[in-house]
Amino acid sequence: VNIKELVNTIIPSTDITDIEACGAAYAPTNIALCKYWGKRNKDLNLPTVSSLSITLPTKGAITRLAYRDAKDDLVIVNGNVVPKTAEFYTRVVTFLDLFRPKNLCFAVKTNSNVPISAGLASSACGFAAMVLALNDLFSWQLPLKQLSILARLGSGSACRSLYPGFVIWNKGLLANGLDSFAKKVDIDWPELCIGIVLLTTEKKNISSRKAMQISVNSPGYPKWIQNSERDIEVMLQAIFDKDFLSLGLQVENNSKALHALMLSSEPSIQYSNSATEHAKGLVADLRAEGIDVFFTQDAGANLKLLFLQQDAAKVRAKFTHLEILQPFTEQIQEYV
Ligand code: DP6
Repeated sequence: VNIKELVNTIIPSTDITDIEACGAAYAPTNIALCKYWGKRNKDLNLPTVSSLSITLPTKGAITRLAYRDAKDDLVIVNGNVVPKTAEFYTRVVTFLDLFRPKNLCFAVKTNSNVPISAGLASSACGFAAMVLALNDLFSWQLPLKQLSILARLGSGSACRSLYPGFVIWNKGLLANGLDSFAKKVDIDWPELCIGIVLLTTEKKNISSRKAMQISVNSPGYPKWIQNSERDIEVMLQAIFDKDFLSLGLQVENNSKALHALMLSSEPSIQYSNSATEHAKGLVADLRAEGIDVFFTQDAGANLKLLFLQQDAAKVRAKFTHLEILQPFTEQIQEYV
């Protein structure tokens, strides 16, 4: 599949005179409850499993895009110019190449309140905001399904960042990935809280992209896929039934299985540090006290907790650095 040709079947043809002077958009980040881990096509970010996430309305990225009279793109993240030698610069430029009319260059400015590369899904909101800003700049007026496919091409998890609440990304079966996009799950759970246990803002030593690639070659990978297929069914049922205990246990199990898979890979991948293990111990302590609180961990040392509003005070008392979010009661909002 030629990606540029594929993109041209999704976006309207660009009449250069219709292009706005600049485009801007905000996209929230999302946390996977059932993880996306492993690709059946690396170029198109097509996953081997479907995944389920929850959107965090107030954590995200705002991206502004404009044309630039220069020979190359300018990428600015949180006020810092990204050097052309950085891997991230190449990733952004390669993505913009898919949409670039003639040889025009872009200035891209992103501000994010999510720590970059610390396992808090900065690429999810970053690429989702970029696609929405492109939609604005080119006046495409594309439906969310198409925008989700385009965001996926930037970063898999970004396809889930276009919707609020619970979001499911069906892996799809087609080789061109036109059936691999995210959809909102139409169930709200206002009492649900997400706690962000920020243990480090240090950049992780291996990207999720690379770690994923290593994991798929692990002998435990086929088993992980099987478990994940069961996990997403159980989680969806628990959401429909508002069965928090069932949801929480399955979310934590899915995360544990993911990190066990990484540890058993060759080379072994370890995102946890001693602070992560300590925090997991505190979660276990709370559970022993009868409080339903569960953790999930992505490609980083930080943890995200799931609990209900009624237990928020007890959970807060246990963790010194805890930010509590209420995904279903907060509005998607720009913070800059
Ligand atoms: C652990 O979406 O960052 O957060 O598609 O290579 O950009 P690429 O990967 P990315 O991976 C996210 C991995 C995860 C799980 C998840 O968000 O589902």
